[in-house]
Amino acid sequence: MESGRIIDVLDKKSILVTGATGFLAKASNINVVFVEKILRVQPNVKKLYLLVRATDAKSALQRFNTEAVETDLFKVLKEKYNTNLQTFLSEKVILVPGDITCENLGMKDSFMKEQMWRDVEVVVNAAASTKFHERYDVALDINTCGAKFVLDFAKKCINVKLLLHVSTG
Ligand SMILES: NC(=O)c1ccc[n+]([C@@H]2O[C@H](COP(=O)([O-])OP(=O)(O)OC[C@H]3O[C@@H](n4cnc5c(N)ncnc54)[C@H](OP(=O)(O)O)[C@@H]3O)[C@@H](O)[C@H]2O)c1
Repeated sequence: MESGRIIDVLDKKSILVTGATGFLAKASNINVVFVEKILRVQPNVKKLYLLVRATDAKSALQRFNTEAVETDLFKVLKEKYNTNLQTFLSEKVILVPGDITCENLGMKDSFMKEQMWRDVEVVVNAAASTKFHERYDVALDINTCGAKFVLDFAKKCINVKLLLHVSTG
């Protein structure tokens, strides 16, 4: 598929991304690459819901700021939006505290959950345990049961068009 078409597909779409603080999404390692790229090449994305492990929305936002926005990867966006970057991000990015090993991704905010069930059209699951020596039950919980909970959540999104599951295995 040509990259131009992928960009067009994401136009005005709401996307749920899990694992946004991981390598595939993060700037400190190269990650958050995925999130940064969407914001850079498709600024007309409607909403990016980022499911992040955190105790509450404030801590999730704090993680996003320190692990993504404040890193070098966001340089291009900072140059483009300058003092308007935070406004742009607050319009596009919604930090959702959660955990894929739990039903409904461990989301406690029922208003947000229902908004996402109505709004989300694309789900990208990049959350995983990537440790080769992970305890078996922990790996099973995240990589197998977690993937199933993401699938269950995607099925509840009435406008969902695509579920992308990123996995080595
Ligand atoms: N990196 C590569 O080159 C590469 C290549 C091919 C395939 N993949 C696959 O891509 C996927 C992601 O890889 P990665 O390199 O980005 O891994 P990573 O750097 O280890 O990141 C894993 C991400 O998953 C999140 N996560 C883990 N358990 C979670 C849970 N229970 N609930 C919510 N989020 C959870 C982590 O959040 P925390 O920050 O809270 O820990 C982190 O954001 C994996 O399936 C991997 O096999 C990666």
